[in-house]
Amino acid sequence: MENTEKKQVVFSAIQPSGTITLGNYLGAVRNWVSMQEEYNCIYALADLHTITVRQEPAQFRRNILDAYASIMACGIDPEKSIFFIQSHVHTHAEIAWILNCYTQFGELSRMTQFKDKSAKHADNINAGLFTYPSLMAGDILLYQTDKVPVGADQKQHIELTCDVARRFNGLYGEVFKIPEGFIPQNGARVMSLQNPLNKMSKSDENVNGCVHLLDPPEVIMKKFRRAVTDSDACVRFAEGKDGVNNLMTIYGAVTGKTMEQIENEFAGKGYGDFKTAVGEAVIEELRPIRERYERLIKDKAYLADCYHKADEIALKISSRTLAKVKKKVGYIV
Ligand code: TYM
Repeated sequence: MENTEKKQVVFSAIQPSGTITLGNYLGAVRNWVSMQEEYNCIYALADLHTITVRQEPAQFRRNILDAYASIMACGIDPEKSIFFIQSHVHTHAEIAWILNCYTQFGELSRMTQFKDKSAKHADNINAGLFTYPSLMAGDILLYQTDKVPVGADQKQHIELTCDVARRFNGLYGEVFKIPEGFIPQNGARVMSLQNPLNKMSKSDENVNGCVHLLDPPEVIMKKFRRAVTDSDACVRFAEGKDGVNNLMTIYGAVTGKTMEQIENEFAGKGYGDFKTAVGEAVIEELRPIRERYERLIKDKAYLADCYHKADEIALKISSRTLAKVKKKVGYIV
């Protein structure tokens, strides 16, 4: 019998603010890939978000294409998913303005990412950095999204998205579907290898803290060999062992092993063996991605064909929601 049940919609996005990291991959992109079979998946390169921090134009342009090719290399299949570029689809900027008028100053002030980023870029605390969650809410709500696969750091933004959507629906009727975050059990918060109290981030000043998706194998191994641990010399998951916990989390996320299995595997062994095993596992996970990336980045025409097609479909779908929103608010459409 034909399956007539409608597939649920998945939406997520990533900023092309630098090279994609192991944190992005384990926290989000890996799930984007696995969800393609079961869901209607829509993914975006959130390049409108990226200019909340000043970008050098030529480098930014390179980062956009590089990030697009990297995400495709992770396994996003253009035949199965829609993977578009946010700045090419004008409905996003448009709905962001409308949602800004339904989001409170107090709500935006409570966003931890705003507080962190404004501390980090104290010379450029622009209005975009402040209203960024309204744009993100618009991204999600335009597609009547059911599930949003993200890392733990985006949870607060998704909660705000739901609050704004409920408020809007409360005023005008059922306009938006209320989405739900989809945060992995393991890998939702990969920490810096050099300072395991901080999130692994594209903009980490310490190059050894962050593993990039396209790092060559010897670089990945060097970073893991230098990873900060402790003086306990015992591979076990416990409070206060942030460096080891992080390495165990990464190893578990890549191999599928539980913390207990990892503890048993390395019982009686030193951190040297453990770090080498984590490095090797990550190298093997990333090797095919790097190889696919090398092929894709050479084929700019193919990449352009993929995003042009996706941009067009994204515009078509999102325009329906935007038109409904505008009508409800009272605009003549
Ligand atoms: P961004 O570009 O900072 O990160 C992309 C995705 O990677 C996850 N992530 C991590 N997961 C685990 N450990 C880490 N160290 C780590 N660092 C990043 C993030 O949680 C995210 O899922 N605002 C978003 C982009 C965005 C978006 C959206 C996401 C724009 N519109 C709509 C979902 C839905 C961001 O800056 O992600």
